[in-house]
Amino acid sequence: MPFAKITGSGGYLPPRVVTNNDLAAELATRGVETSDEWIIERTGIRQRYIADADTRTSALATRAAQMAMDDAGISAGDVDLIILATSTPDFIFPSTACIVQANLGIRQGAAFDVQAVCSGFVYALTTADAFIKAGHAKTALVIGAEVFSNILDWNDRKTCVLFGDGAGAIVLQASDAPGIVGAELHADGSQAGILNASGNVCGGKVVGDPFLRMDGQAVFKMAVNALSKSAQDVCAKSGVQLSDIDWMVPHQANIRIINFLGKKLGIAPEKVVVTVDQHANTSAASVPLALNTARRDGRIKSGDLVLMQGVGGGFTWGSVLARM
Ligand code: ACO
Repeated sequence: MPFAKITGSGGYLPPRVVTNNDLAAELATRGVETSDEWIIERTGIRQRYIADADTRTSALATRAAQMAMDDAGISAGDVDLIILATSTPDFIFPSTACIVQANLGIRQGAAFDVQAVCSGFVYALTTADAFIKAGHAKTALVIGAEVFSNILDWNDRKTCVLFGDGAGAIVLQASDAPGIVGAELHADGSQAGILNASGNVCGGKVVGDPFLRMDGQAVFKMAVNALSKSAQDVCAKSGVQLSDIDWMVPHQANIRIINFLGKKLGIAPEKVVVTVDQHANTSAASVPLALNTARRDGRIKSGDLVLMQGVGGGFTWGSVLARM
């Protein structure tokens, strides 16, 4: 079986919805000023889902993964690979993938985390595709899951209004028919300074800055340039035209980045899946959550050609083309 195909998807968002007005009121108690108008105009975000203080990434990931397994009609005994993308793991170790494996009662196969921030899901999906095509696995769970609210500085209005928590997952299985038809990944570590959470635990103490920091305008420029070139490159590599794409599922960071990208690539707005208004930026979870949303509401159908794109800290970016 030379191909790997998406056979199921799932998504999970924590129950607490925080609207822009809720957030503005909460931030005002800290003396931090923001507004629904500013957030919508600059980002397109209207609300986000925020996990309770004791909810870990693995809990969200387990729910999304179980939903994807049910959708694909597989059971725990079928899964022989779990790749989980996150920048907010439960622990330094074991990996969050191993915790999810145990939660789901999976007792065989490999499980590991991938850390590529908001590009994590496309990195994980590309890795799972390579495992399956090389014959190392037959049925993979590929998960993007984050509790980004844990690494936000709620006194920094330039970042704390942008993110939400959640998890998305897909099942990727060996198949006679395509499948993942193309992928390409990039990193430029020299740009680590424009978006990072540079703290760590050392000698039992938090050293460095535990919170996410971002140069928003530099990220904006880097994201649109990197993603437009990556979309063109993955199509050229896979022998398809941009006009062949039925659906674009970009990383959901900011509606202005998404609109700019669609325009630059000549992809009509009706073909672009947007969830940033409802979910905000859920980092590694954003692409699988958006994919799952559009599969479940009937927009993305079997046979459609889907372009998924991630971009984020590192700096990292990449694209995956999938025939559903
Ligand atoms: N509420 C009200 N005012 C704000 C807020 C806020 N939440 N945040 C910033 N401002 C103010 C600033 O203080 C500044 O005021 P000043 O002119 O008096 O100093 C003014 O708004 C403009 O600030 P900028 O940072 O220049 O605003 P900008 O237009 O660049 O918008 C944004 C900021 C939305 C972050 C933008 O740069 C952007 O979209 N960047 C892309 C980055 C992104 O989406 N990152 C997500 C994570 S990375 C990823 O997923 C790839």
